[in-house]
Amino acid sequence: MKEIIPPDGGQHHLKNYESVFGTFRFEDVHADFSWHTTGKVNMAYELIDRHTTGPRKNKTALLYADDHRRESYTFEDLRKLSNRFGHLLQRLGVSKGDRVFFFMPRSPEVYIGMLGAFKIGAVVGPLFEAFMEGAVTDRLADAEAAVLVTTAALKERVPRGKLPNLRHLIIVDEQPEYAAGEVNFKQAMAESEEELELAWGSLEDPMILHYTSGSTGKPKGVLHVQGAMIQHYITGKWVLDLQEDDIYWCTADPGWVTGTSYGIFAPWLNGATNLVRGGRFSADGWYRTLQDYGVTVWYSAPTAFRMLMSAGDELTAKYSFGRLRHVLSVGEPLNPEVIRWGLKVYGKRIHDTWWMTETGAHMIVNLPCMDIRPGSMGKPFPGIEAAIVDNQGNVLPPNSLGNLAVKTGWPSMMRQIWNNPAKYDEYFSVPGWYISGDSAYMDEDGYFWFQGRVDDVINTSGERVGPFEVESKLVEHPAVAEAGVIGKPDPLRGEIIKAFIALREGYAPSDELLDHIRLFVKTGLSAHAAPREFEVLEKLPKTRSGKIMRRVLKAKELGLPTGDLSTIED
Ligand code: WTA
Repeated sequence: MKEIIPPDGGQHHLKNYESVFGTFRFEDVHADFSWHTTGKVNMAYELIDRHTTGPRKNKTALLYADDHRRESYTFEDLRKLSNRFGHLLQRLGVSKGDRVFFFMPRSPEVYIGMLGAFKIGAVVGPLFEAFMEGAVTDRLADAEAAVLVTTAALKERVPRGKLPNLRHLIIVDEQPEYAAGEVNFKQAMAESEEELELAWGSLEDPMILHYTSGSTGKPKGVLHVQGAMIQHYITGKWVLDLQEDDIYWCTADPGWVTGTSYGIFAPWLNGATNLVRGGRFSADGWYRTLQDYGVTVWYSAPTAFRMLMSAGDELTAKYSFGRLRHVLSVGEPLNPEVIRWGLKVYGKRIHDTWWMTETGAHMIVNLPCMDIRPGSMGKPFPGIEAAIVDNQGNVLPPNSLGNLAVKTGWPSMMRQIWNNPAKYDEYFSVPGWYISGDSAYMDEDGYFWFQGRVDDVINTSGERVGPFEVESKLVEHPAVAEAGVIGKPDPLRGEIIKAFIALREGYAPSDELLDHIRLFVKTGLSAHAAPREFEVLEKLPKTRSGKIMRRVLKAKELGLPTGDLSTIED
């Protein structure tokens, strides 16, 4: 018998999965949006402005807290501030379709800025604050970003000389002097107008460009359109189960897709109060946030839950989570042990959700009305058709391992890989299906069970890292001749990055050298992409065409058979 945790009997938006699965169509919720009657679409209008014409006008939309700031903004505040930012962008000559990037720590300004950019029809590009110069440059250059919103400290990682399209930097904190093309945010906001003519468009207008990693090539720009809001909205309602009095906290940074789809879009489309905590993780700080703000709905990730778990139950016992009503997880496999621990310490089930940057919104979920089977990602969201298919696209029977695939055509599906149609087509190599790159099986009751990645993409602490990007950086180091990078299983982080390297003539392996190489990746790319472990080899296993065989490195690391070696060099 499989372990089953039944629903908790609370009042939820969706009372029964079977009643909607197979019959619900995304079109059924179109009437909940203002464009349904007006025919004109603007994301920020649906997120914010529309609430200000009714009883939510003075409701708290954003609660912000870090070690220095504690602030609160109503929907009306956000409407006006984002109008100002939209006007500011207009005055800089930004027009519909231009890419406006954000490279800064979490703060109210990121949210105001992104909303303002949507208001004028610009395409928002989020960049995680930990990216270093190389990572920032690749992404801004590929997207031909026109404007970057950043801070005085982070702009040091932006080589403007290499970015001819980047016309303006908007500096959100003050600095003594402003170079040509730099804008003083505070001053420019003050000089802007509080009312703005919004750019109206269609559901197919480009909206947000998230860079994410694959197993080959540079990071790819995944483009989503305004119509994705349909799915953000209904998953916010049914999966996050957002209700009028909720205090909702999504712990993800808006530099990643969870931090936008579920840190901005889903909560505000549903008119919810959205809490943002800035600063770094600390078990104490997180628990204080949960308690002091009376968080009711909490969306986080397995690595965070595992870190809280390892902080010890004595710490948990010091806080009360009396208002916590609904807990969810995303980004990596959620261990059954963590679910059992959550039940014990919070008295709540942790609801796993599966989706990707490319899918834009939830695909496979545990709804509050469903039984949870610990270890399973749940069942397809109503309106989504997921299946396990073989490489030819044949749907496999229950309990067979294969490619996790989704029937194409859901509202939040990516519409483009920026500048790279060939890469886009790779996802749809099997007609009618989106091939996720994950392997899984479905049990006889329709629950999906994640097994691993099909490709070499690494998932460390829930962050996706492309081995190729790390390898490319490694071989830029003068001591490194060749590099192969794999994800090595790790109890806390899911996977850690392990690099196998061969040194150039004249270099001998030493701890000092390896530290230097690690730092080189950390400062050139980002901290989370820097290998935690190194192994120096004479030579790396390669195919005859010269491709590093990561599969062989991984098998060796795990003590598994190396499989077919017919293409190996020698
Ligand atoms: C993994 C994050 C197991 C998976 C929203 C996927 C998961 C990749 C789960 C996407 C889950 C995400 N269980 N694995 N519930 N959710 N993943 O693009 O490998 O950063 O392909 O999107 O994370 O990562 P991304």
